[in-house]
Amino acid sequence: MRELKYDVVVIGGGPGGTPGANMLAKKGLKVALVEKGVGLGGTCLFEGCIPSKIYIETATRYSEIKNSSKFGITLSYDNISVDFGALKERKEAILKARVERAEKIAKMNKLDIYYGVAQITDKNSVEVDTKDGKVKLLFDKLIIATGSETVKPPISGINLPGVIFSEDIFKLEAKPDSIAIIGGGYIGVEIASMFARVDTKVIIIEALPRILATEDVSISEAVTEGLKNVNVDMYTDAKVSVIEKEGELLKVNYKQNGEDKTVQAEKVLVAVGRRPRTKELNLDVLNIKLGNHGEIPVNEYMQTENINVYATGDVNGRIMLAHAATRESIIAAKAILGEKVPMTYNAIPHAIFSEPEAASVGIDTTKAHELGYKVVRYSYAEDARALIVGDKKGFVQIIADPKTHKLYGMQIVGKGAGELIAEATQVIRMNGKVEDITATIHTHPTLSEIIAEAAEEALSSF
Ligand code: NAI
Repeated sequence: MRELKYDVVVIGGGPGGTPGANMLAKKGLKVALVEKGVGLGGTCLFEGCIPSKIYIETATRYSEIKNSSKFGITLSYDNISVDFGALKERKEAILKARVERAEKIAKMNKLDIYYGVAQITDKNSVEVDTKDGKVKLLFDKLIIATGSETVKPPISGINLPGVIFSEDIFKLEAKPDSIAIIGGGYIGVEIASMFARVDTKVIIIEALPRILATEDVSISEAVTEGLKNVNVDMYTDAKVSVIEKEGELLKVNYKQNGEDKTVQAEKVLVAVGRRPRTKELNLDVLNIKLGNHGEIPVNEYMQTENINVYATGDVNGRIMLAHAATRESIIAAKAILGEKVPMTYNAIPHAIFSEPEAASVGIDTTKAHELGYKVVRYSYAEDARALIVGDKKGFVQIIADPKTHKLYGMQIVGKGAGELIAEATQVIRMNGKVEDITATIHTHPTLSEIIAEAAEEALSSF
């Protein structure tokens, strides 16, 4: 077996592994990146953030075309449809371009990539089964960035044909007429919004009392209303136990308030969460004990209990978001380079590309009330640009300390929410105040002015 010596080996070529590997290689360290998939990008690129947003983009454009009469557009044809085959091809072309770009950057930085499954063999080596045979990579430092995998709950019938998981959606050749989604979390809600916009009948079954249960209640309520308006049926406090085949359809059996109920659909999507992926690694040899949720525990520098080993991204169980993983990857790389910058989690934005779009950063309303902070809501309907783009229902919610005026959180529901949240993220990250927003000149007429107007409203209420 070939044996090669590296300063750093990184396992996992997603957002939790690649940025740090590139940074270390660029600084002149000898770095190997091991990836078991077909290219660099991870779950985010191949079956998560990117394909889902490609599909959501098409679904949004389709529904905007259909609902364009309010903008003075008269359509003279009556048959518009989404070609799922063409959509899949578009997705594949974008993915290919992203993989090529990632490999070009790696090459420029002299980062060595090995495609194959990495197995840790002892405290200073991993073995990779590549298509050209097995190689042994010796390392001084190891970064584990193996991500997470879909939870497959013990629901009877989960292996029936037609029952799918998030990774299967973007392989579909045709649009289903109906889909029942088990789990009203991030994945369930985004996929529900996408399918509802292209006229698939969507049903969400959620075990908790509300969808998007981990988000601010204002977001959860607005998205519940938005989904109802596009005819999504939602059942909450409803736990699924059995899926059965019934003729051409699938029957989902669930319990709600002690009563047995059923819904039928062509496809069933199971989206009940993801868990850290550590199975194939052989972690025992590193003396690392997993946490209660199967995660690799780390400190604020992403270092595990074995000081030569770091864990970044979904696998450390801290926060399952690609942009957080990217930052963690950089934090680990910096620590290896001797620059100790702690990871902070108070300014990590979330965006949900749902019906309507929503985003948040910092603390939520519940926490604000506990701490005695003020929550000020401002409506999109007050803003000129919002009227131009046709969104009167959106709102911005500012959470700040009325004594110090320090900004602690923001929620946005409405068009552009995912982009607009960047401003609050920056202010919170810099320990800024509401005045940092009001004193900033915002371009007129853009949606960004809503943030400034909301901040003015908050200031005048303190
Ligand atoms: P999730 O944890 O967000 O939601 C899963 C939901 O399923 C929960 O609300 C849970 O109560 C429900 N559930 C569990 N068992 C059930 C049962 N038997 N019957 C009915 N409901 C049941 O997990 P999800 O949606 O799978 O997403 C996984 C991860 O992916 C999330 O942690 C998220 O961070 C990430 N993600 C982020 C996105 C974004 O930031 N825009 C988009 C998609 C995913």
